[in-house]
Amino acid sequence: MFEGVRSKIRILERYVYLDNASSGPLPDPVVDAVKSFSEYWALSGEPWDEGIEALLEVKRLFSSFIGASHHNVAAFPGVTYGLGVILSSLKVRRGSNIVVGSHNFPTSIIMARALERAGVIGEVREADAIKGGFEVYEKLVDDNTSMVMVDYVGWLSGHVEDIRELADIAHSHGAILVTDAFHAIGVMPVDVKSLDVDVLITGSYKWLMSIHGAALAYIRGELLESMEPPIAGWMSIEDSVVKRMIRGEPEFERPLETSRIQLAEDASKLELGTQPLIAYVALREALKFLIEHEATLNYESHTWRLAEELAEELQNLGFTLYTPRERHSAIITFKHREPHKLAGELERRGVKVAARPQLIRVSPHFYNTREDVYKLLEALKKIKGEP
Ligand SMILES: Cc1ncc(COP(=O)(O)O)c(C=O)c1O
Repeated sequence: MFEGVRSKIRILERYVYLDNASSGPLPDPVVDAVKSFSEYWALSGEPWDEGIEALLEVKRLFSSFIGASHHNVAAFPGVTYGLGVILSSLKVRRGSNIVVGSHNFPTSIIMARALERAGVIGEVREADAIKGGFEVYEKLVDDNTSMVMVDYVGWLSGHVEDIRELADIAHSHGAILVTDAFHAIGVMPVDVKSLDVDVLITGSYKWLMSIHGAALAYIRGELLESMEPPIAGWMSIEDSVVKRMIRGEPEFERPLETSRIQLAEDASKLELGTQPLIAYVALREALKFLIEHEATLNYESHTWRLAEELAEELQNLGFTLYTPRERHSAIITFKHREPHKLAGELERRGVKVAARPQLIRVSPHFYNTREDVYKLLEALKKIKGEP
């Protein structure tokens, strides 16, 4: 199995690549799709229809990935941009509080703080579920909570949140549950229905192994209906050119209605204008690649196990894990006083990991092997043994 996959990921000829949580390596079909889209544009003009078809297919493929309908999936140029549109379209009660995970990637915490600063909400409450355990949510979520916003997997901690249980707590107080699953989608199986989440968002350039410029969000049906975007554009309306294309009608024969707007009935009501279509052309190939190679199917027996073995061996070498071992994902992080120096030395030995403040983050994906993990461990031993 591995040879068929690895031979299409050329960076593996040069490096042991264990930095998927920063950005995924690009497989050949993704690179080829980007090349041919721009080549076509250079020689024959903008491949607009091709780009829109890619966008629509990405929505369909992604929906089947997470057990949702494509009706409930909106596309954005990035996770932060998507979260921004979503949060500003929600009817958030003035004076209510938002509970955020303190191990979230900063963007969602910053956004909640911006809502607080603008007076849209009354308070941001930070929950540290690693220190305080799950009870911390029970303490902080109350009847004045409008939203619980917790990342599925900690970007540095690598811990997996109990999203289903969190959704139950949020719902029992009339709040919604928003989760950024950038470090889950593509590496582990995720099913939005069994998680009972209201919003789930992810981006293209990490575990989905594609380029920047695409993000996808699932929004639960009733919530979607109740959302009132404060802004709209030519792609937000029910009679947009994309909707005309889907209906098989000519795109530009009739003018677009501007005197009165009817927002799209599906999640595209949150989309504004032309997407970075090349990112969807790339992501379509990446999703097909992941599906063809059953990337998430062997998460527990393979990818998670690699991370588990790595965690064990790092501890045997005397490193202190930052990741809580009993709740780890495919991300294992350990403490280090000079992470940038160590990551640089590892890279010189052909191993790519990420340096973050006081931490080294190692993040294997489905295509990594035990040999990759042992190459990293051998390099760490050698570096440790040096004067
Ligand atoms: C969990 C998580 N969410 C969001 C982001 C940023 O997303 P974007 O670059 O699409 O704004 C990152 C980037 O590392 C991340 O780890």
